[in-house]
Amino acid sequence: MSAERWPENVGILAMEVYFPSTFVSQDRLERHDGVGQGKYTIGLGQKKMSFCDDQEDIYSFCLTVVKGLLEKNRIDPRDIGRLEVGTETIIDKSKSIKTVLMQLFEKSGNSNIEGIDTTNACYGGTAALFNALNWIESSAWDGRYAIVVMGDIAIYAEGNARCTGGAGAIAFLVGKDAPLVIDRGLRGTHMQHCYDFYKPNMVSEYPVVDGKLSIQCYFTALDKCYQLYKNSFRRQHKDLQCDPNMESFNYFIFHTPFCKIVQKSFGRLMLHDLFSLKDGELTEEQKSKYSSLLEYREMKLEDTLTDQKSSKEIEKCAVECSKELFKKMTKPSLLLAENTGNMYTPSLYSGLASILINIDEEELVKKRIVLFSYGSGLASTMFSLKVCPEEYLRPKLTRIIYQMQAVKSRLNERTEIEPEDFVKILKRREEIHHLPNYTPAATTDYLWPGTYYLTSVDKEFRRSYSRKPRIKLSESLEKSCEFL
Ligand SMILES: CC(C)(COP(=O)(O)OP(=O)(O)OC[C@H]1O[C@@H](n2cnc3c(N)ncnc32)[C@H](O)[C@@H]1OP(=O)(O)O)[C@@H](O)C(=O)NCCC(=O)NCCS
Repeated sequence: MSAERWPENVGILAMEVYFPSTFVSQDRLERHDGVGQGKYTIGLGQKKMSFCDDQEDIYSFCLTVVKGLLEKNRIDPRDIGRLEVGTETIIDKSKSIKTVLMQLFEKSGNSNIEGIDTTNACYGGTAALFNALNWIESSAWDGRYAIVVMGDIAIYAEGNARCTGGAGAIAFLVGKDAPLVIDRGLRGTHMQHCYDFYKPNMVSEYPVVDGKLSIQCYFTALDKCYQLYKNSFRRQHKDLQCDPNMESFNYFIFHTPFCKIVQKSFGRLMLHDLFSLKDGELTEEQKSKYSSLLEYREMKLEDTLTDQKSSKEIEKCAVECSKELFKKMTKPSLLLAENTGNMYTPSLYSGLASILINIDEEELVKKRIVLFSYGSGLASTMFSLKVCPEEYLRPKLTRIIYQMQAVKSRLNERTEIEPEDFVKILKRREEIHHLPNYTPAATTDYLWPGTYYLTSVDKEFRRSYSRKPRIKLSESLEKSCEFL
């Protein structure tokens, strides 16, 4: 298909976010774990961590979020032509989550839906999104919508990584004439082999993780992707007087294993911008903007990450130097990550939901959001989207923003679980993981209306689910569903 015949404004038309109704406070977890007060809350920047008991699993998460997307946007299941899943939470190995989700389409008679699951740590959701976009811009596209769903249950063995867990799922309706338009041709990708985080133990939900290495890999990938993304931006914007820098864009959102890494990443982009300026080229304004970083300008960029003597100091200076821009361009994206933890594949997109919650609609229109996706192992891409580039898309933007406000309210409607009980629940999950002939022990009382939950696993490991009755939507919410 030639560029002229590509559908217009392809991107995200609607969005649904799910996280479990239970959480543990990071502040109380610090005390329970006997680490220094402030380590999880200040050192890592986390407030609350979502988790679930044994009555929820990755199938129930994805059923809940896809059903919610279909219902709240009144989507006819026959209008879906592709369904892509990104996850690193695996149950049946050879059988995809996508096939489990086909139950939601049975009644409509629509089994003509392409797509399956994609896996590479936290990157699977981005790969799934790219697959959906590729389909819509290909000769195989039949004019219908795609759904992209990403979800994970992120839990770690006892130890220093446990506080960086989380859980949740996000689903997108993808198609043309969308209010969140993915930029064509603006991407930078870096992929590499490394063992920073992986799940070789098939009988455990827990990963093997080298935390320090994973942070180093994340920053290296960020450096490479930012350079490549800026190159692609430069190629597309030939009229630019100078090389693009952070301020050529409006918002940056990042995959968020914990919030502090995001602030450091933002600082790193500033360092990158400085290092991209050629010798002798600095204006007085630039000198003042980068003042605390100037002394490191002679170093190689990669050495600023590894140099034993100066890397920590450089990181601190970069964070300090970028503090004001960070507040404006990235901090609003951290609402969900601070309060749910690392959802793995949906983590980056929880940043998008948070921007839609925290920034005024008027302010968002025509703005560009740059996204950095990272999955250990490793796969990473920087790409971008434009918010409502044309006025005719505005009602759809209003509707997404309206629906995201309900997500914000749900954050405050959760039930807090004591750290001792959180530990017991994880222990129970360890004991029952992949057991046949199992009936979940947890109560369904805490689950929100509309949540799917596991009722049994039979002797052949086949899983059955029920759904908590859904409450009727309020009149105003019903009204907000009428745009599509
Ligand atoms: C992230 C992770 C490596 C942290 O492990 P750790 O070795 O226990 O943590 P650290 O000792 O480095 O402490 C974390 C931060 O808290 C700070 N800190 C420690 N105690 C503190 C206290 N009492 N008050 C305030 N800050 C404190 C540390 O200085 C450090 O900050 P810094 O890196 O800016 O110096 C670990 O939780 C992990 O492996 N998580 C999973 C993997 C992951 O999320 N990787 C990210 C890339 S995908």
